[in-house]
Amino acid sequence: MTDSGPYAALRRALFLVQPERIHTLVFAGMRAATRPPALRRRAERLLAPDPALATTVFGVRFPGPLGLAAGFDKDGHGLDTWGALGFGYAEIGTVTAQAQPGNPQPRLFRLPDDRALLNRMGFNNHGAGELALRLTRHTGSVPIGVNIGKTKVTAPEDAVDDYRASARLLGPLAAYLVVNVSSPNTPGLRDLQAVESLRPILAGVLAETSTPVLVKIAPDLSDSDVDEIADLAMELGLAGIVATNTTISRAGLRTPGVDALGSGGVSGPPVARRSLEILRRLYARVGDRQVLISVGGIETADDAWERIVSGATLLQGYTGFIYGGGLWAKHIHDGIAKRLQDGGFSSLTEAVGSARKS
Ligand SMILES: Cc1cc2nc3c(=O)[nH]c(=O)nc-3n(C[C@H](O)[C@H](O)[C@H](O)COP(=O)(O)O)c2cc1C
Repeated sequence: MTDSGPYAALRRALFLVQPERIHTLVFAGMRAATRPPALRRRAERLLAPDPALATTVFGVRFPGPLGLAAGFDKDGHGLDTWGALGFGYAEIGTVTAQAQPGNPQPRLFRLPDDRALLNRMGFNNHGAGELALRLTRHTGSVPIGVNIGKTKVTAPEDAVDDYRASARLLGPLAAYLVVNVSSPNTPGLRDLQAVESLRPILAGVLAETSTPVLVKIAPDLSDSDVDEIADLAMELGLAGIVATNTTISRAGLRTPGVDALGSGGVSGPPVARRSLEILRRLYARVGDRQVLISVGGIETADDAWERIVSGATLLQGYTGFIYGGGLWAKHIHDGIAKRLQDGGFSSLTEAVGSARKS
């Protein structure tokens, strides 16, 4: 990815401000700019993905395969904004059954030499009830998925009921639900990825809703854990798997002083290799029986295309958007559309079928 162009200069200025503060300010600016319906419709028209990229997944039409990853819009304040910024959909959350403040600040850091971020937000959010109200009112142009997590004060033995409560409220209002058991920032959460803990949670959530349910996994799982979760997803009839969340690994980071920043999950290019590896492993195991959403270190249209031909039906990004800027989703969608044109394909589905065969 090039590091020049108009956004590179703006990014240098934005990066002078403390990360969580600039997140709040820029997010508020994006919402304000897309609030007037005429402006929003204009942006939606200008930045909309090429119609050839539209894809129908679990009965829902996605105008483009790239969505905003969970964590950027935890409470759904920007439900009407994401389509206007060229995303094909957005995953809201993680939201928990009860509102909670998250970890003390500072809890979000840039690793500029790695084009990465480190966060230990800890599911700061206003709770499932508030998001449910917001979802009933939204008028945005793209599907909205909802990512649910465990409330921090809920004991592990009560985790099933906690996830079920969120699923009951939010399932009917979401295009799909993601059960998040992979954030490194809620103590004990990732232990719920062990199939004996995961099974009752997923079964409980499935019992609450007819909305498609996916599970989001960590890049730090062993290959055999990944296989076990894939098998469980198929056995229980999940709609799919979101891979992956942030990594707790600090291997290969170039930014000086990372150790002094403390605990948290790293996102962006440092997680890309493992994220792609897990995608390939999952696709080899589940084929087209599960919808695979690939997330982790996608920066360029080449990255996006590689994930698609490796088995991803949908893609997501967070860190690439921070480093790539407001037109990032459009750039990625345009790059994918160009590949379709160059290959003489009239739709993404056709191109994917051909690429995965070869
Ligand atoms: C600041 C920040 C907060 C995040 N919060 C959440 C979250 O609440 N729930 C979740 O499932 N993933 C969360 N993530 C992980 C992202 O959704 C994504 O899985 C991860 O960052 C890898 O993608 P990326 O390399 O495109 O950023 C967060 C990531 C960042 C950088």
